Amino acid sequence: MGTHGEKRLADEMTLTGGRPLAGTINVQGAKNAALPVMAAAILLRGQSLRLECVPDLYDIQTMCRLLCHLGAEVEFENGCMTINVPDEIECETPVELVRKMRASSLVLGPLTARCGRAVMPLPGGCDLGSRPLDFHLKGLAKMGADIELKGGAVTATAGRLKGATITLDFPSVGATENLMMAASLAEGTTFIENAAKEPEISNLAEILRLMGVQIKGDGTEIIRITGMNELHSASGEIIPDRIEAATYLMAGVITKGCVTVRGIAPEFLESVLNKMEEAGADIDVFNGEITAKWKGPLQGVTVKTLPYPGFPTDTQPQMMALLTLANGNSVIHESVFDSRLLHIDEFRKMGAKIEVQDNVAIVTGVSKLTGAEVLSSNLRAGAALIMLGLAAEGKTTVRGLEHVWRGYEGLVEKFRSLGAEIEIAEPAVE
Ligand code: UD1
Repeated sequence: MGTHGEKRLADEMTLTGGRPLAGTINVQGAKNAALPVMAAAILLRGQSLRLECVPDLYDIQTMCRLLCHLGAEVEFENGCMTINVPDEIECETPVELVRKMRASSLVLGPLTARCGRAVMPLPGGCDLGSRPLDFHLKGLAKMGADIELKGGAVTATAGRLKGATITLDFPSVGATENLMMAASLAEGTTFIENAAKEPEISNLAEILRLMGVQIKGDGTEIIRITGMNELHSASGEIIPDRIEAATYLMAGVITKGCVTVRGIAPEFLESVLNKMEEAGADIDVFNGEITAKWKGPLQGVTVKTLPYPGFPTDTQPQMMALLTLANGNSVIHESVFDSRLLHIDEFRKMGAKIEVQDNVAIVTGVSKLTGAEVLSSNLRAGAALIMLGLAAEGKTTVRGLEHVWRGYEGLVEKFRSLGAEIEIAEPAVE
């Protein structure tokens, strides 16, 4: 049944900083595209979904276990996943899986559409402040579902969902995805207005189209979905992970090195590459590869996180890491999440100078960072701490790596292939 049993993963790593990273890495499949696409399999009845380029990550394993709990069979090997969905499935999701990962909430829309009832405990995942599900729930209610919140769980009940016009208060990625999936089996046509435009939305739309759904407008503010009575087996591919690619490019620059990423369309990373260039990195796009090179001291810049195509919140901690060593001041405004600057205390332990007011951080560049013992509190903060450790003088120990394994496949091997010095205590295999 593939690799989605509970694996024991290392909890800490020690990095020796100061080596310029150099080399090329292949970009993994996008975690944030694979999770909703896997959830879309629930819409099938006695059919299967075959996916290529699925990254082998802790979050993907959690979603596999969730699908298996619901009654699907999942095979996963070498990036290729097949999800066989029986005629009848469970409609209640188990608390222990949902609490592990916020993206578990992506099964709510498809389960409600397909089973007429879904029960889901409120999810967990990265601690990025309050992350409510109100847009998801209001959208389902607009499509005719009865929503009940009781005892820390949501119950959605519906006959067949009905197409509706839903306007999101904010272009939420998860709500757009949940509602696209729910609309795929609804009667009639649904319009999602103020929809998220992330490339991962278009990946989901593409797979849903392959399953027989009529969808137009993905990648724009209004998505139009015409629901079907039945969907059919399909086979598709997960797009490359723009956040992973950005992390390695920034790691190349922070270590005064030169890193190339292969397999990612540069337009997915336009806002990130522009900001890196503005800060003084040398960016070269050639033949399907992107190279970021340190060409001299960086300059402070102003960054504001925004929905796509704006600067992604998922690269904010890594960009902040890069700017700790830039000349002058940088201003980083986190506008997507209300509590995504919590990594700053850990950054300071390594010598970074950062002041925070509300959701804005002012980074005053320093000439060097020093190794320290730091704790990762979420996935991207963990990646940023690893970047700082690679750039700092001396040794850095990063703990709390369980967050990092949720999103980066083969991170240690990839960094070592670029010349990083990383020691990791492998836990005994169970
Ligand atoms: C997804 C990504 C995550 C990324 C985020 C923003 C996945 C699995 N995760 O998360 O990595 O950081 O997009 O790009 O794809 N909100 C509400 N009510 C809702 C839903 C969202 O208020 O019902 C708010 C959130 O609290 C947040 C903002 O909207 O402040 C954006 O959240 P959203 O786009 O929904 O993020 P996720 O889909 O959870």
